[in-house]
Amino acid sequence: MKFFVTTPIYYVNDQPHIGHAYTTLAADILARYQRLKGNKVFFLTGTDEHGQKVAEAAALKGRTPGGHADLMVGNFKALWEKLNISNNAFIRTTDAGHKKVVQELLQSLHDKGEIVKRTYSGWYCTPDERFWTEKDLMEGKCPDCGRDVERIEEENYFFLMSKYHGRLREHIEKNPSYIMPETRRNEVLGFLKHQELGDLCISRPKKRLSWGIPLPFDENFVTYVWFDALVNYYSATKYLLPESFKEEGLWVIDPWPAEHHIIGKDILTTHAVYWSAMLMALEIELPKNIFAHGWWTVEGRKMSKSFGNMIDPSEMADRYGVDALRYFLFREVPFGLDGDFSEEALIKRTNTDLANDLGNLLSRTLTMIEKYRGGIIPEPDDTYTNIKEEFLKVMFDPTQEPLRHIEERLSGLDFHAVIRHFWDNVINKANEYIADSEPWKVKNEKQLSNILFTLSESLRIIAVYLSPFMPSSAQEIWRQLGIEDTIDVVIPENPAYMNWGGYAVSGKKVRKGNALFPRIEAKKEPEKEARPPAGSEPADNIITIEDFAKVELKTGKIMEAERVKKSDKLIRLIIDTGEMRQVVAGIGKAYGPEELLGKTVVVVTNLKPAKLMGVESHGMLLAATDDSGSPVILLTEKEVKPGARIK
Ligand code: ME8
Repeated sequence: MKFFVTTPIYYVNDQPHIGHAYTTLAADILARYQRLKGNKVFFLTGTDEHGQKVAEAAALKGRTPGGHADLMVGNFKALWEKLNISNNAFIRTTDAGHKKVVQELLQSLHDKGEIVKRTYSGWYCTPDERFWTEKDLMEGKCPDCGRDVERIEEENYFFLMSKYHGRLREHIEKNPSYIMPETRRNEVLGFLKHQELGDLCISRPKKRLSWGIPLPFDENFVTYVWFDALVNYYSATKYLLPESFKEEGLWVIDPWPAEHHIIGKDILTTHAVYWSAMLMALEIELPKNIFAHGWWTVEGRKMSKSFGNMIDPSEMADRYGVDALRYFLFREVPFGLDGDFSEEALIKRTNTDLANDLGNLLSRTLTMIEKYRGGIIPEPDDTYTNIKEEFLKVMFDPTQEPLRHIEERLSGLDFHAVIRHFWDNVINKANEYIADSEPWKVKNEKQLSNILFTLSESLRIIAVYLSPFMPSSAQEIWRQLGIEDTIDVVIPENPAYMNWGGYAVSGKKVRKGNALFPRIEAKKEPEKEARPPAGSEPADNIITIEDFAKVELKTGKIMEAERVKKSDKLIRLIIDTGEMRQVVAGIGKAYGPEELLGKTVVVVTNLKPAKLMGVESHGMLLAATDDSGSPVILLTEKEVKPGARIK
């Protein structure tokens, strides 16, 4: 099967930042996963090089637009290489191949009467390159960016987009996965329900802007940058196809339509509305899915050059490692929601999930194999059954629930759920297995071999499944297990290698290397509360039952959760404790809002209201503190209705 995934093509007016890296990494994870499954993947990224913004950025640096683009493209390409991005095409809108397709499509729309010339007057926002009508304006400014607009009257060419209004709405309604996530789909449907779709101005007079693709039917105009840019997804299939799409020397596999256009929520309208209508007019099949992910802020603030808080992904990768960065971005925030980037959170994730959970699992396993089996992974003994071993086998059996779950979640781009599932059900279970089976105490040799084999085989498969997320660390796990093969070469050819026992890991000589993820020294450790040692509480710490009865404790179901702006610690919750109440809890470093939803917690309901970072809190959530100082919330052992009194 073929699989075609795209990223936006990024403007070359700026340096790449963490937002660009995020989208491209998401596409990379999908592309790598599809390749593992043996599919033919076309993974396209690139740069958007025409238009006013680029022309202005070039002028500021005293360069020609083309010269500026040539220089800036190098930054994107170098970053993708560093982050291990496996794109097999890179499109530049200044490519001759792209220009040719843009002109062909424009000509065909013009021939069909889908593009017409009109005199137009309106308000133009130069930085956004968009026209607005009088009623669109907000207090006389651009409704999108709030900057000044100028009155313009001129002749231009228009794509008759308005006539696709009905078809577009119908398509989105009939195909729930066309626009994802659901909230974005509803946004577009809401817009189509309540507003008339206008026609789209697709030209700019050359006298005002010359840096663009000339209209084939009128050389006094160049193409509007969005028309040119959106076409990249299609034009690339005409001249940038990878060799794997050839059979017997011929291009026989057409990657169109794309399985996923991955974009940020900022450019949803241009994709969901303009691009879809353009394709309808061109009678080209629509993509299968447009996924608009959320927005990264930095320590609560919008990322911007003027705040000086742009996060350079290359610098982050140098400081913390490429794979730690790749892991963090997709573990920290569910794909689709907004997230806040902080180095503290990245360090914490790396130390707990990667150094502790995964890194230790590998190093403990290899140490035991060296110590008890001279470094050779032992043969399992099938006659020996152990409940935990059986359990691990079930987990890796493709016909069983956990793997189906991974497959489903990945096709829904729910990267966060896949990672969590893997950690909760595989990596942490394997660590528990070591703790429970206590291999260092096992006297029965067969039993010990079984344990060591089980751990090695688990790690081998864990590495395969994690390879789309962390390709080099996954390969390093294989190397340390003594496996010479390359994951992304052998797995596509041998799907059975993904299964338990599908590959002969016994007999391999392990090569324990450096720690997979060295612990990172935290910038600053969270302050631990000073507590007197247990048993030394002074007698006046004792309270009577009446004192305790003053505290009203109730069960509460979390109905809504979101981070408090500018705080990485506080989460605003709406909790049903018999009545709905707003509670602000300081658990944001240990929990993400989404994982709290639906949980039944314990709430102090008669606490005097307090304001935290300007948000009112009516109650307090109970939580324990673990060894690292992180809060662990208290849940009821069984489902209890919200508002039950706790005594
Ligand atoms: O819009 N958080 O290019 P662009 C998450 N050339 N993602 C972010 C982000 C943030 N803070 N900032 C940027 C363009 N992105 C057009 C696209 S496509 C036919 C033409 C990501 O350089 C996100 O994917 O402004 C967003 O959609 C994209 O960068 C915008 O990149």
